[in-house]
Amino acid sequence: MASFLINGGHRLAGEHTLQGAKNSALPILAATVASGGECIIHRCPALTDVEATLNILRHLGCGVQREGNTITVDASSLQRGQIPEALMHEMRSSIVFLGPLLSALGRAELSAPGGCEIGMRPIDLHLEAMQALGVEIHQAAGRLFFRAEGGLRGGRLALSFPSVGATENLMIAAATAKGITVLTNAAREPEIVDLANFLNACGARILGAGGGTLLIEGVQKLHGAEHTVIPDRIAAVTYLSATAITQGELLLRGAAPAHMDAVLAVLEQTGCRLRRLPEGLHLRAPHRLHRLPTVRTMPYPGFPTDAQAGVMTLAAVGDGTSMITETIFENRFRHVSELRRMGASIRVEDRVAVVEGVPKLHGAQVDACDLRAGASLVVAGLAAEGDTRVCSIRHVDRGCEQLELGLSALGANIKREETDGEH
Ligand code: EPZ
Repeated sequence: MASFLINGGHRLAGEHTLQGAKNSALPILAATVASGGECIIHRCPALTDVEATLNILRHLGCGVQREGNTITVDASSLQRGQIPEALMHEMRSSIVFLGPLLSALGRAELSAPGGCEIGMRPIDLHLEAMQALGVEIHQAAGRLFFRAEGGLRGGRLALSFPSVGATENLMIAAATAKGITVLTNAAREPEIVDLANFLNACGARILGAGGGTLLIEGVQKLHGAEHTVIPDRIAAVTYLSATAITQGELLLRGAAPAHMDAVLAVLEQTGCRLRRLPEGLHLRAPHRLHRLPTVRTMPYPGFPTDAQAGVMTLAAVGDGTSMITETIFENRFRHVSELRRMGASIRVEDRVAVVEGVPKLHGAQVDACDLRAGASLVVAGLAAEGDTRVCSIRHVDRGCEQLELGLSALGANIKREETDGEH
């Protein structure tokens, strides 16, 4: 099983160029299927989730080429509308192929993606969104069959929760539906805006992305386009936290501070000095982090659930008691038990974690239970006394591009160790 071996106590300083956003690249790569043409997507991060998406595109019959961080997809050779169970289970967010397949073919066959480490991950809002566009849905033996007899037609839908994935699926399917679609209580994340910009570059007519109401005027056909993915605001948290916890200094090139207001406000209250620069974001850490202000995860523009584990690590060594409430996913405190093994003092009651900052963490062997938990344990290891081994780093490789290389270049002592069998 691959792991990171980290020797803690080294101050991070220097520059890092931020990767493209995983949660933007994945839906945009899936949406190329709806374009029916050739799409060139720049700043795609080298991640296992991106590779899983490319495998699905190839299975569907699309041509796929990668040159560095640029991926070219030729969707004109699309042949299939079904994704096999094995490929669906490789990455649960492959549900985002639903809208593209319905847009391109008027039909789709997928497996229910099932839960993951952080929660049940239901798809009821996705199904409701497709039904609002006239899609018929049948389920049999764990497979979902979708058909839009006579093609997709525009409709109105109010989401009961601003689901990112359901908003994405609806936006892509409605782009070529007959008539107008109005979606209220839509997700407002920067990744939604990025997807809308890509679809509009493909000839779609989507208004209001980034606000709570989307208005989509269906067009006959889309075409290929060239697009650059926005920077990854969550990978940014990993690098900013790593710098903050080691009393360091970082210039994060390519970061988009405007996407990170809620997170930056918390970092500033821990004593970090942040400067928004044309080339990105500069952070200078205090000698000792103050306690966190109360953090409550919310849909964008609130504090992002994906940054919750990262700031909990800061709270673990902060000067005082912090309170963190996770309102989005039901099982997203799995890093707590691992942080406790490193000497953190954290009490969890239901969705609330109370963190008493300790002066120092100590090294231990810990397990990266999920992507963001794993990244937060790497950050903890950078500051801990002695050696920390973070196991199961396949979770981290899903969302952090060559994390050990980026951190080593800033002065961290971190090595990837592959053991036989699993990489
Ligand atoms: C996206 O997941 C992200 N993934 C997640 O990032 C992120 O945490 C999440 O949005 C929230 O910001 C990608 O973009 C690939 P949701 P998604 O639908 O679309 C409930 C990471 O670490 N819900 O907004 O699945 C759901 O159970 C990942 O990069 C329903 O009830 O998130 C959850 O409680 C983790 N029914 C809440 O909504 C549905 O049909 C948020 O889910 C759909 C969702």
